[in-house]
Amino acid sequence: MHNKLANSQSPSKPYADRLVVPVRELHAGHRDEILRHLLLLNEEDRRLRFGTQTPDEVIRHYVGSLDFNRDAVFGSFNSQLSLIGMAHLAYLPRTKGQPHAAEFGVSVLPDGRGQGIGTALLARASVHSRNTRIEILFVHCLANNRAMMHLAQKAGMRVEYAYGDADAYLKLPPANSGTIVEEASNEQWADFDYAIKENLKRSNDAWSWFLGRRLVRPT
Ligand SMILES: CC(C)(COP(=O)(O)OP(=O)(O)OC[C@H]1O[C@@H](n2cnc3c(N)ncnc32)[C@H](O)[C@@H]1OP(=O)(O)O)[C@@H](O)C(=O)NCCC(=O)NCCS
Repeated sequence: MHNKLANSQSPSKPYADRLVVPVRELHAGHRDEILRHLLLLNEEDRRLRFGTQTPDEVIRHYVGSLDFNRDAVFGSFNSQLSLIGMAHLAYLPRTKGQPHAAEFGVSVLPDGRGQGIGTALLARASVHSRNTRIEILFVHCLANNRAMMHLAQKAGMRVEYAYGDADAYLKLPPANSGTIVEEASNEQWADFDYAIKENLKRSNDAWSWFLGRRLVRPT
């Protein structure tokens, strides 16, 4: 199968045929945003994301224990600067003789779905993995998670089903100058996009205060 994210020696172009989605790398200062995002997921989405029933307390513990020095966390913000999509790239412990692997987990809030955000997060995590010497990108999900399976297969991942679960694997080629430049320029562009949204939001808030009612801009 054609491996869209990994097998080209040139940078991946995940956004070529649809809306362009800026993705930022998140840090410990984003913990509250991440928590808010995950708590907004309903019961079924939490089950799909974490593979089991996930009460608020478990989510709080998960977010509190995210290690931003070891792992990478990526996010996509909407015009209100809310975290509409986030992905956790967890580096798995190294095993002698085994390829270095990382596990990808993702969630997009219902309002943001179907706009390429999940795809962009997967693409960004894939490039970051290559740039940090990850050889296998791995997604574990429930076999009935059709959206995630579709996303994984579209990215060229090999999917194996067993006992109601599915594991998707992507063998990644090493980084090259293209992947390094791609990630750096994506990050810069996403920071720029965030700054624009921040200014627009401030201006909207100021006008809303001045006019005494909420300002709605046509999209
Ligand atoms: C999986 C998830 C991250 C996808 O996010 P998204 O932003 O909607 O993803 P995209 O818009 O990039 O792509 C979704 C693709 O899946 C397709 N899709 C959506 N629902 C589908 C379904 N039930 N069956 C098959 N395909 C489906 C869309 O048509 C789209 O395909 P396209 O790009 O070929 O048009 C999102 O649905 C989600 O957060 N689900 C709950 C948590 C979860 O399941 N996480 C994954 C486990 S780690």
